Formats: sequence, structure tokens, C-alpha cells
Amino acid sequence: MSFDKVGFGIIGTGAVAAAHAMAITNSEFANLVAVYDVVPERAREFAAKYNAVAVDSFEEFLKVPGLEAVTVATPSGFHHDPVVAAAKAGKHILCEKPLDITLEKIDDMIRVCQEQQVLLAAIFQSRFKGAVVEIRKAIDEGRFGKLVSVSAKQLWFRDESYYKSASWRGTWAVDGGGALMNQGSHTVDLLLYLGGEIKKVCGHTANFVHDIEVEDTAFARMDYVNGASGTLEVSTACQPGFPVTIEITGTKGSAIMKADTLARWCFAEERPEDEEIRNKYAEGSKTSGGASAAMDFDYRGHMLHVDNLARAIRNGEELILSGKDGRLAVEFIQAVYTSSRSGMPVILR
Ligand SMILES: NC(=O)c1ccc[n+]([C@@H]2O[C@H](COP(=O)([O-])OP(=O)(O)OC[C@H]3O[C@@H](n4cnc5c(N)ncnc54)[C@H](O)[C@@H]3O)[C@@H](O)[C@H]2O)c1
Repeated sequence: MSFDKVGFGIIGTGAVAAAHAMAITNSEFANLVAVYDVVPERAREFAAKYNAVAVDSFEEFLKVPGLEAVTVATPSGFHHDPVVAAAKAGKHILCEKPLDITLEKIDDMIRVCQEQQVLLAAIFQSRFKGAVVEIRKAIDEGRFGKLVSVSAKQLWFRDESYYKSASWRGTWAVDGGGALMNQGSHTVDLLLYLGGEIKKVCGHTANFVHDIEVEDTAFARMDYVNGASGTLEVSTACQPGFPVTIEITGTKGSAIMKADTLARWCFAEERPEDEEIRNKYAEGSKTSGGASAAMDFDYRGHMLHVDNLARAIRNGEELILSGKDGRLAVEFIQAVYTSSRSGMPVILR
């Protein structure tokens, strides 16, 4: 059955925009129509590479014929304004993580998109990893029994040149924090996706090596609404950078995901397919998944987000990650910062 492809535009043609261009141009459900950047030469160079049109003025960009959805890939603290302007121009939105850096701005984005009746989809492409999908399915089927612990480590490394590569990186004003808000938000989303909403968190942040005003390391201990507990360690100070590890333990089973492999997959009630799953996820992908370098991941996760939004626009498919889902990660991260500053736990639910 032929699909009437959705016309996408990209706002902000920096590092992550390349993954979006690859995602859109390789999607069966989308076309890349136009791109815009506050630095017009950057957009022109980018457009030439991906066979798209670069538009110098934001107002004109929003009027390009056939533009139905926009990907917002501007620095984290600059998501709100383009999202709101595009929504008011009737465009559906796919917004990079984190949705923005304050709950006030995120709430305004959600409100405007609702009022304008456009879709707001958030990005956390790690949800599409096969191992995550398997773990989530096993949780939904009750295979872990009662969840006891849902924990994660994301001990990555970024060198000084990463933080110097753009003036917004490692700033409170535009990055909204450091290792936790930027890199760690992916893992925070996975903890929320797998463990459910968090009731209470104690946080501690520190800066070990980087010349930045924000944290390069964050620790948290949390209690989930469902009764489980967990810990989170996130860093960009740990050379040479290690794969993200997620550990789920319940009264009837336990799983450990390391990058995109399953290092443990054990249940009190073993099923015939379990051996197949262990074999399937024994070996990981060729990229570091971002552990050692910012853009060392492939674009397929982004493409699944593009596909989902395009099908949501045309066929009413449910969004995998709505604005409200994306908000949860920022709410948790802000709570870790508040707790770290005050030395007190923060109650979220
Ligand atoms: N999903 C992921 O895995 C992933 C990976 C990297 C970055 N990101 C996110 O993507 C966003 C961008 O990160 P990046 O590393 O690509 O940043 P970047 O600095 O490389 O690129 C940002 C671009 O946006 C442009 N820009 C700034 N303000 C703008 C505006 N108002 N309108 C249009 N263009 C504007 C800049 O000129 C720049 O070209 C951040 O929110 C980051 O957290 C996500």
C-alpha cells in the first residue's frame, strides 16, 4: 500500500541533524523538504549534502510548500521557541532530547501544541533497542515478578574538545546541566520506561575533570512508585567511556543490558524462547553507542521516531513518546539537581 510521505523540515543543522537527515531521507514515510539554521551558511552546506532546500529566514522556512512536520535539533535550551512558532504555523513536531531544560518551558510547549492540535513527539531513541523492547515485554508479562531494583550506569567520557565544540555545551543557561541533563537523559528515560514513575529521589552531583560550570558526574538513589528501588550513575569523566548498563531485578527474574546486548536474562520460569533471546542479544553493534564520542551511534533509532510521527500524522498511530512522556525525564533530572543542592530527598509523587 503506498504511503503519502510526510514533508519534514529540520530546524538546527548541527551535529545531531545529520542523524535526522539520514533518518528522514531513508524513511518510507517521510521526505526532507527544507532546513533552517540561524547560521545560514551551515544550513546551505547541510542542504547541499542531503538534497534539501535551505531557507535563510525562519518565517519563510515555515511557509515552504509541503512542510508538514519539523524536527527541532537546536541546542537544548533553545527548543521552546522554535517548537512554539512551528506549532503556531500548524506544523507537527519531533523534538530532540531533552524536550527543553525547564518544566515551565516544556509545559508551555505541550499546551501550545494541544491548542494548535499538532502532535508533539519527544526523542529518546534508546527505547527502540531490541534488548529494551525484550525487557519491557517481560516486565509487561510479569516475568520479573515484583520488581526489586531498577538501576543504571552510564559512565561515559567526553574530552574537553567536546565541551569547547559549541558555546552552549556544559552551561546551565542552554545545556540545562551537564552529564545528567545532556547524555544521561537517555538513560533516565529508560529507567522511567522500564521501572515506571519515580516517587522519591536523593541526588548528588560533582565535577571531576571538566572546565565547565555544570556537573560531569551525577549519582541518584530512587524509589519507584511500584515499590522498587534503584540507583543511577552518570558521568562524562570516566575514560575511556563504558557501555550503558541497565539492571532489572525482580522476585522471579533478572536481566542486565550492556549497551545493546543482554548480559543476563534469567527467569525462575524459563521459557523455550529465552535461549534464543540470549543468543540474539549476545553480541552488540559496532558503535560505542555514544560512550566515548558524541555522534557514535547509527540513525536507525531516529528513523523509527520519524516513521512513528509520520504514521501518527497520516493514520493516527499512537506516539511512542509524547510531550508528556518526554517531560518526565526532565522532571526527574531537575529533582536530582534540587536534591544535590539541598542535601535533602525530593518527593515527586
Ligand atoms: N538523540 C540523540 O542521541 C542526540 C545526540 C546529540 C544531540 N542531541 C540533542 O540535539 C540538540 C542539538 O545538539 P547538537 O549536538 O546537534 O548541537 P549543535 O550545536 O551541534 O547544533 C545546533 C545547531 O542549532 C543551530 N541553532 C541554534 N539556535 C537556533 C535557532 N533558534 N534556530 C535554528 N537553529 C539554531 C546552531 O547554529 C547549530 O547549527 C540538543 O538538544 C542535544 O541534546 C540528541
